[in-house]
Amino acid sequence: MGRLFKARFLLPLLLLLSVAHSPVFAAKSYVVYLGPQENGRRISPQDIADVQNSHYDLMGSHMESNERAKQSIIYSYTRFINGFAAVMDETQAEEIAKNPNVMAVFPNRARKLHTTRTWDFLGLGKDGTAIPGSTWERARFGEDTIIANLDTGVWPESASFNDEGMDPIPLRWKGICQQGFKDKITCNRKLIGVRYFNDGYVAEGGTVTDDTATPRDVEGHGTHTLSTAGGAFVPKANYFGFANGTMKGGSPRARVAAYKVCWPAFSDEGGCYDADILAAFESAIADGVDVISFSVGGSPSEFFNDAIAVGSFHATLKGIPVVASGGNEGPKAGTVTNLAPWIFTVAASTLDRDCTSYIALGNRTHLKGSSMSTKGLPERKFYPLITAGDAKAADAMDSDALLCKPRSLDPSKVNGKILICLRGVTARLDKGERALEAGAVGMILVNDNPDENDVFHYSHVLPASHINYADGQILFAYYNSTLSPMAFMTKAATVLGTKPAPVMADFSSRGPNTIEPAILKPDITAPGVDILASLSEAVDPSNERAEPATPFGFMSGTSMSCPHIAGIVGLLRTAYPVWSPAAIRSAIMTTAVTFDNNRQVIKDLHFEKATPFQFGAGHVHPSQVLDPGLVYDLGPYDYMNFLCARTQNISQIRLFINDSYACPTTFSILNFNYPSITVPDLNNWAVITRRVKNVGPPGKYVARVKAPRGITVAVRPMELIFKQKGEEKEFEVLFRTKAWAKAEEYVFGSLVWSDGKHAVRSPIVVKPRTYSVSIPLT
Ligand SMILES: *[C@@H]1O[C@H](CO)[C@@H](O)[C@H](O)[C@H]1NC(C)=O
Ligand SMILES: *[C@@H]1O[C@H](CO)[C@@H](O)[C@H](O)[C@H]1NC(C)=O
Ligand SMILES: *[C@@H]1O[C@H](CO)[C@@H](O)[C@H](O)[C@H]1NC(C)=O
Ligand SMILES: *[C@@H]1O[C@H](CO)[C@@H](O)[C@H](O)[C@H]1NC(C)=O
Ligand SMILES: *[C@@H]1O[C@H](CO)[C@@H](O)[C@H](O)[C@H]1NC(C)=O
Repeated sequence: MGRLFKARFLLPLLLLLSVAHSPVFAAKSYVVYLGPQENGRRISPQDIADVQNSHYDLMGSHMESNERAKQSIIYSYTRFINGFAAVMDETQAEEIAKNPNVMAVFPNRARKLHTTRTWDFLGLGKDGTAIPGSTWERARFGEDTIIANLDTGVWPESASFNDEGMDPIPLRWKGICQQGFKDKITCNRKLIGVRYFNDGYVAEGGTVTDDTATPRDVEGHGTHTLSTAGGAFVPKANYFGFANGTMKGGSPRARVAAYKVCWPAFSDEGGCYDADILAAFESAIADGVDVISFSVGGSPSEFFNDAIAVGSFHATLKGIPVVASGGNEGPKAGTVTNLAPWIFTVAASTLDRDCTSYIALGNRTHLKGSSMSTKGLPERKFYPLITAGDAKAADAMDSDALLCKPRSLDPSKVNGKILICLRGVTARLDKGERALEAGAVGMILVNDNPDENDVFHYSHVLPASHINYADGQILFAYYNSTLSPMAFMTKAATVLGTKPAPVMADFSSRGPNTIEPAILKPDITAPGVDILASLSEAVDPSNERAEPATPFGFMSGTSMSCPHIAGIVGLLRTAYPVWSPAAIRSAIMTTAVTFDNNRQVIKDLHFEKATPFQFGAGHVHPSQVLDPGLVYDLGPYDYMNFLCARTQNISQIRLFINDSYACPTTFSILNFNYPSITVPDLNNWAVITRRVKNVGPPGKYVARVKAPRGITVAVRPMELIFKQKGEEKEFEVLFRTKAWAKAEEYVFGSLVWSDGKHAVRSPIVVKPRTYSVSIPLT
């Protein structure tokens, strides 16, 4: 258990340096990134030792001795990634960054962690039987694809990871089933690998004890996400009877592997550290995984200063697609994270399932609320209503009472009534407990902020219903209109087929991309609200109280939508093992839909039309992904050209390809062959190019454009004829600002290539610059 002991060993060093420099932690840990290992070379143990020694030498030249350098190094990345993580002070970090062999030095930052009905809603199949001809049938349920999840670990005993009926583990698998220091971990033919990484966490002050040094998930997040991506069929899964059905992952017959990189956070930044993340990426690549799912993120930074971007870049170059969550910082613009163009970035939207409790007001108006209370009102009759403000205890403040804070309510006023509490400040479940304590028979939880239209179903201790702002206004108007307000609430029940669905989640982070505005992010949306999946049996996270653990539970977030996409990527890997990560992403993006189940443009929670800044190419449509018709592919040279254009002149870029590669003198990122098209600064006119590859039968494709407001769009040529599979064709798209276009405002459209059977759709995003009258086109 070198990890633990090394951490203790590091401590005196940290203290020593902190005496010499103030503020307290002058010595921090950093990641030093040197690029790739020599391309294509087989790495022997001797090679690894040589690379390690080169790291000691480099670090040693900035410290008093190589011995000291050796002690300061937390990780040496030696197999695919060349680099190391080490404890040093800021001056040393700055000095090392000046070394011409160093591509980047960045702090070892912390990152944050960001289903029964899901797959039926997505049209794949039910209860373990694939619809004939469906994606599941054709992709053999993702058989033998290996899906890795970098997260909080795994609960190995979960029913989602039972290996019934699975063949022996593929021989190409090189991973291990790492044991906890005191904890026994059992892998099987389904859960084929488990590892944990915590040196970077410990270096920054995290504590790992003999008891917690284990790949076991004690948080729930990692088990939930991994079971969503690749969990086996689990019949009759439910949460206290809600959402009962057969639970399964997107690739139910895939093999899964868990890499634990997230530990209990001791700062607001989260508990997943860059140095550990990079080590896990390298390990996953070496172990032979086929897909990486990563529901973690932090504030965006330049791509080579970001362990997630670096790790996923190396994975992508090895042909391993990386799917990541876009973050939960919405609805503000520019909040999306995991922005590199080699990452598949996922937003979150709702399912067509809700757990609902209806409220009938005394004047026969009905309101719909969300709830998972297992209890109903004692009798089928109207009960008196009271607002928490009117039920205030004599010595309490109005503002506290409205929120149903502890000791703010007068039981003599509440007893036997339905209590109305406002959302906010205190935990929702706590408000329910205060209401019950004061003698309420039920609780209505109300959003009092017009910007908050999201409602949540929780398992409150009493009958409860959570309503949105608009319904809250109706409730209060009714309450004010009569001297004896009354209401009844129905017992909470699971409702399927709710409309509209999907709706974009308020929390889902939005574009534009703050690092590279010419690349649209997020790329796609998938279900991420109230997703039922397996949990760690150490906790119950949908419950803020310490309740007995349940094997399944609800969670919401882009963390939950990300593994839905990873599961679908797994299906494509099984069906088309030789497709590149970019081709797989293109197939999923260009077949996505922008309509909800009312056949209208997908909306946000405020009933406004959502845009590509919310859903990217749209909502995933798995039944089409195996037949995209055309794909926008990307190879290593495309990525290199992209990097050249962004970072100008990093001589090490050629290391990724070969010695004779040189950055092209003219390459515009607008021409990077992405499946979406973004012109973030349209100065009157622009011409961009794209390249499509035919992956279907021969055919003639015709372009159809929906131009953004105020922009003229033309495609050249308008027709593409493909005589065979694998053929590639280039085309150009011309943009011109109309005289009346609004400057500095993003506008949206689309380009569709269609042969009558396939519709290959790309979103178009344009921001015209302040209009000037000169028209340079002839
Ligand atoms: C869940 O559904 C199954 C059959 O579909 C049924 O046998 C079982 O009783 C249900 N469980 C609950 C808790 O409703
Ligand atoms: C109801 O009455 C209260 C107190 O008079 C007032 O503050 C509130 O705005 C009223 N609400 C509505 C929706 O009329
Ligand atoms: C009940 O009262 C509310 C609030 O005044 C009002 O919006 C609603 O229309 C009323 N319902 C009926 C059926 O009159
Ligand atoms: C890029 O850097 C290399 C080495 O630092 C230098 O020789 C070369 O001239 C630079 N190229 C450009 C286009 O600036
Ligand atoms: C090396 O790079 C050049 C482009 O700079 C390319 O033309 C050549 O094919 C590459 N060679 C190999 C072996 O990949």
